[in-house]
Amino acid sequence: MSSRNVSSTSGVTIEDISLSFGQTEVLNGVNLEIMPGELFTFLGPSGSGKSTLLRAIAGFGPEPAGRILIGDDDVTHLPPWQRNVGMVFQSYALWPHMTVRKNVAFGLEEQKVPAREIGPRVDAALKLVGLLDLAERRPSQLSGGQQQRVALARTIVVEPRVLLLDEPLSNLDANLRVQMRREILELQRKLNLTTIFVTHDQEEANTISDRIAVLNDGIIQQVGTPLELYDQPANRFVAHFLGTANLIDGTIRKARGKTIFSTQDRITIPADGTGLKSGQECTAMIRPQSLRLSAGKSRAMKSTAQLRGAVEHREFLGHLIRYAVRVGKHLLLVDETHESGEAAYNSGDKVVMGLHKSQVQFLKA
Ligand SMILES: Nc1ncnc2c1ncn2[C@@H]1O[C@H](COP(=O)(O)OP(=O)(O)O)[C@@H](O)[C@H]1O
Ligand SMILES: [Mg+2]
Repeated sequence: MSSRNVSSTSGVTIEDISLSFGQTEVLNGVNLEIMPGELFTFLGPSGSGKSTLLRAIAGFGPEPAGRILIGDDDVTHLPPWQRNVGMVFQSYALWPHMTVRKNVAFGLEEQKVPAREIGPRVDAALKLVGLLDLAERRPSQLSGGQQQRVALARTIVVEPRVLLLDEPLSNLDANLRVQMRREILELQRKLNLTTIFVTHDQEEANTISDRIAVLNDGIIQQVGTPLELYDQPANRFVAHFLGTANLIDGTIRKARGKTIFSTQDRITIPADGTGLKSGQECTAMIRPQSLRLSAGKSRAMKSTAQLRGAVEHREFLGHLIRYAVRVGKHLLLVDETHESGEAAYNSGDKVVMGLHKSQVQFLKA
């Protein structure tokens, strides 16, 4: 472990990868460049092709069309054991009859590492995941989180060039998931080990990733940092998958020399400087916290757009209140932070929603 240095980790290049099972196209022209030392996440709903893509990098499953490089090495046609990647599965697949120490040593024994090296390397790996004290236990004598750590230790002890984690936390309860994702990130940083993490959980992806690729139906929808994806989603799918979004369909037109976005139910939002052309159809995306509610005009006047509506219902969520406000045929969600003692709006109340144009993202249809 101590011998690891910056140069021992490698990036991963995925060039035009496609793969079908029978008639079903599961991956469709995937291109990605994952940087050395990066924690990169494949995020998407169940069935979107995340595991298939991860397995293709590891060399499991049918060989895809396209090319996969680890560092400068083309591994497309190599069997898994020659790729020097480490993979942790959702089911940890520990050997039940072996102690923790034996489980972690197993890969090194397989690789015919000299016996005198195995002990110290296993100890170092167990220490990294905080399990040195439990080395003589069997998996059945460990909690779910501890078993997960054994699976991690067993994978990193062979010093892979790339770490692949397929929904590694999904068998753990909610509190433990939060704790373990932090531990995985700390471990990844400590080892400076290029890591690809697969999850369907956007919060998990946002909290640990340097960058995320959003997948749907085997196609990469967008690649970016968590903030980029949230603030500038490329399309409706990404906007919805990364959080709650108001999506309003409309048309760009000119009014009194200015470019505006407008809908049939007379929502208008300034669209100067967006590069959108008159007549173009598009979707305005507004996050619920970007709308500011007021009963009169005063607070909303500071904004670049005002939408008028009536409160239809509200949900009290503790730190905030989520209002559903009717504007024509649209029902817009508005989040207001809640401070104790502050009065809330009631259903039926007429309200003005202020919006700054920098908080609107126009998605092309
Ligand atoms: N061995 C297989 N044979 C046939 N279809 C498969 C096989 N493995 C996966 N698929 C299909 O490929 C699609 C993507 O699966 P998968 O990569 O496991 O998605 P995810 O990990 O995003 O949930 C799904 O529709 C799944 O049913
Ligand atoms: Mg999967």
